[in-house]
Amino acid sequence: MIPELSKPSVWMRDSKRVEEIIQAMHRAGPSTLQVISDFDMTLTRFAHNGKRCPTSHNILDNSKLISEDCKNNLKELLNTYYPIEIDSTHTVEEKLPLMVEWWTKAHNLLIQQKIRKDLLAQVVKESDAMLREGYKVFFDQLHKHNIPLLIFSAGIGDVLEEVIHQNGVFHPNIRVFSNYMDFDENGILCAFKGQLIHTYNKREGALLNAGHFQELQDRHNVLLLGDSLGDLTMADGVHNVENILKIGYLNDKVEERKESYLSTYDIVLEKDETMDVPNAILNHITGRQ
Ligand code: TMP
Ligand code: MG
Repeated sequence: MIPELSKPSVWMRDSKRVEEIIQAMHRAGPSTLQVISDFDMTLTRFAHNGKRCPTSHNILDNSKLISEDCKNNLKELLNTYYPIEIDSTHTVEEKLPLMVEWWTKAHNLLIQQKIRKDLLAQVVKESDAMLREGYKVFFDQLHKHNIPLLIFSAGIGDVLEEVIHQNGVFHPNIRVFSNYMDFDENGILCAFKGQLIHTYNKREGALLNAGHFQELQDRHNVLLLGDSLGDLTMADGVHNVENILKIGYLNDKVEERKESYLSTYDIVLEKDETMDVPNAILNHITGRQ
C-alpha cells in the first residue's frame, strides 16, 4: 500500500493493523486528522554525517551566550541524566524525579547566564540544528490540507520556534506546547514560564491544555510522532480518539530499546533520519481517489 513501509529502517509489530488504521484515516479524510509531534530528535535530526545534532537546549548550551564554566556544568548534567532518560531498565516512576531535577538544574544555570532575547535568532543561525530530511514536504503538506500540527516539546519553545521559522515552515496551522523563556524589561532571561514540561510528564501537559483539544474536537484521528517513550502520552488530551497511529523514531541504544518501542509504537523507525514514512502516510491519507 505504501512502499516506504518496506524500508529497512521500518519495524512494525502488526503491519496489518497499521494498514487498517491508515485506510480508516484515508476514508475519513484530512478534515478529521490532527498531528501531534515531539520536537527534539523527532522533527530534528539525531545525527548528520556521524555527528550528533543539538537539541533545542543544546543549541543554547553550545552557544557564545554561555560561559565556559556553565558549559561544563551543563555537559555534566547531560552526561549524568541523559543515560537515565533513555535507560530501559528503569521505570518511568523511577525516572520522574530525576528528570525534574535535570530540567530544574539546567534552567537555573541558563537563567544565571543573563541570556539576551535579541541574540537568540543569531545563535540558532550559527548552530548545527537540522530538521529531518523531507521536513519541508511534511510541514507544507499539513499546511496545504489545513491539518493542525501540535508540537509538544520538553525543549525550549523560543529556540525551537526560531529553528522552524528559519527553515521557512512556521505555518499558521502550528501550535507549540513547550517551556518558554520569560524575559525582564531589558530583554534578559529571568525565568521559565508556566508548568515545566520534561520528557515524562507530557500527559499532565496535555491535560493542562484542554482548551486546545476542545477546539479540535471534531478531529478524531491522530498521527503521533515521537522519539521517547514519554512522547506516547502526548495525545492524552484528545477527545474521543477514533484512530491513532504512533510513529516512534528509535535513534539511540537501538538493541536495548527495540523491544519496548515495538510494543508501544505502531511503527518504529530505526536510525532513520528522514520524514519519508510520515510523509508517505500523510500523502496516502490526504490523497483522494
Ligand atoms: P523533546 O521533548 O522536544 O524531545 O525535548 C526533550 C529533550 O531535551 C530530551 O531528549 C532531553 C533534552 N535535554 C537536553 O538536551 N539538555 C537539557 O539541558 C535538558 C534539560 C534536556
Ligand atoms: Mg524528543
